[in-house]
Amino acid sequence: MCGIIGYIGSRKTEEVLLDVLHKLEYRGYDSAGLSVIDKNKFNILKVSGKVNGLARLVNQEKSKKKFLSESGTGIAHTRWATHGAPTIENAHPHMDSTGQFIIVHNGIIENYASLKQHLKEKGRKCISETDSEVLVNLIAESYEDNLENAVVAALKKVQGTYGIIVQCLNEPKKLVVARLGSPIILGLGEKETLICSDPSAILSYTRKVMFLDDEDIAIITPENIETKNIQNVSVTREVSKIDWEPQAIQKSGYEHFMLKEIFEQPQTLKNTIRGRLDENRGTSVLSGLNTQPRELADIERIILAACGTSMLAGMVGEYYFEDLCDIPTEVEQAAEFRYRNPIVNSRTLAIAVSQSGETADTLAAVKEAKQKGAQVCGICNVIGSTIARECEKGIYLHAGPEIGVASTKAFTSQVTVLLMMALRLGRSHRLSRNVGVELVNSIKGIPKKVQEVLQTASAIEDVAKKYAHINNAFFIGRNYLYPVALEGALKLKEISYIHAEGYHAAELKHGPIALLDENVPVIALANNISGKEKIIGNINECRARKAPVIITATKGDDELRDIADDILWIPSVSEYITPILTAVALQLFAYYVAKERGCSIDQPRNLAKSVTVE
Ligand code: M6R
Repeated sequence: MCGIIGYIGSRKTEEVLLDVLHKLEYRGYDSAGLSVIDKNKFNILKVSGKVNGLARLVNQEKSKKKFLSESGTGIAHTRWATHGAPTIENAHPHMDSTGQFIIVHNGIIENYASLKQHLKEKGRKCISETDSEVLVNLIAESYEDNLENAVVAALKKVQGTYGIIVQCLNEPKKLVVARLGSPIILGLGEKETLICSDPSAILSYTRKVMFLDDEDIAIITPENIETKNIQNVSVTREVSKIDWEPQAIQKSGYEHFMLKEIFEQPQTLKNTIRGRLDENRGTSVLSGLNTQPRELADIERIILAACGTSMLAGMVGEYYFEDLCDIPTEVEQAAEFRYRNPIVNSRTLAIAVSQSGETADTLAAVKEAKQKGAQVCGICNVIGSTIARECEKGIYLHAGPEIGVASTKAFTSQVTVLLMMALRLGRSHRLSRNVGVELVNSIKGIPKKVQEVLQTASAIEDVAKKYAHINNAFFIGRNYLYPVALEGALKLKEISYIHAEGYHAAELKHGPIALLDENVPVIALANNISGKEKIIGNINECRARKAPVIITATKGDDELRDIADDILWIPSVSEYITPILTAVALQLFAYYVAKERGCSIDQPRNLAKSVTVE
């Protein structure tokens, strides 16, 4: 989604802006722009397309001496189109019609049409199709002699979400920042401040960040940062240290971030597990759960709310909670949670799963669950993200920044955290110490087993090359591997643009089987877990329709060779761990198919890393 950066300091402003824009690219975008003040006017450069194009434009302008590079303040943006096509006119920053004010904006102004009409009647003309240009004109209209007051007055008229940075020619050394529902943080460097929508993008400048809350306003000058809320009450926001290393957002020799992140998993899973298992008591220690055993014993129902891959991790969690804790559990698409009016009470544990911690629908589900009195726990990767801060309980993944748009290492860490949570809750319900100890040992073994899957990468690549030409694919699974079938299909379609669908294996006969023929391969997850004998029946049904079959099978299960066109071998583990290992094999499969097809793997078309609008 859109990325925002603002800078006040003594470095060459356009260099900082371009550098951070490059680091924001992974989030997905289709146009980019920046602005610095030059000879008492905004010097704005924009492109439809990539940041490299913007950098070229800046250099051209500099060589013609048309671009001042040392202004000390500036703002920039990568735009993922919502209102209007990804054209230069619609790209940010946007100026008001008098040329005195400028804005970069993430989010959506829902009442922009009526505001635009109002502005038109007042003689303020918008050139672009964007809601953001409406907002900057509204700020201009409200201006008397102080930018922050104008911003507050304008925001009071607005319905929707925003993360904004605004600048005004009358007060050139000041940036005004505000947020509601769109993430924005302040990076506090040595005599410089960076304002950004994503902490990982500014790690090479500073690790000290201040997280703004909804309805906060920050007024930033070279000497000072003032924070208050939209009611004009002064507020103090905590400063945190982000412990991610700047090299975590480098490719480190890998061709793509996605490949790097797949191969990082033995380490990221170690980080997820570290210090969280108690072998002696056969349980896990999750301090962020922040709950006494008796309170855990009182939980009667669990709801997991999430989107995309995080929702599929939640579906694996549903099996864990029901199998290990005997607690009725359901998974809700987070957008549905808010509008469906689910039954929730104080004995409900609502778990929001989100890598970014910024997904708008998941955040809304958290707020709704809190409103209804549930206990709310966030499972997030990004430290200090909005969902993490909104939840009273929280468990971080510690997987490090995930840059590839297709989620990989976050999924395996999410599933691992859910398993550790189920272990903890289970031990406050019916789970025995002995089973708990066994589970602790299985969890400890995950990183090593994932490493074994990664060692089969070149065999998986060979299979992937063989099928890279296909137009359609089905993934089928049962039990713990049903959500993994959905995730395998999601991964393949996201990055290779092959039409891929995941089904419960039993569902095939209820319709999708009509599509099978020799051109539609079926990836059948037939590892050695309960339900395997049934899936063998389903595989035979596919073969009878001439569909090629790729099977994921437990190492040593040689009898499956007879019914498979190709096999991806998965180490033998307890069935609780199987989904993690199988997902890793399917990540590699999707990656190598997409690579063979020459796709843009880290930034697939139309996709954004973090979906911060409804
Ligand atoms: O940041 P979140 O985990 O909340 O994001 C949820 C989905 O947008 C995300 O998992 C998406 O489906 C990924 N592109 C999947 O690879």
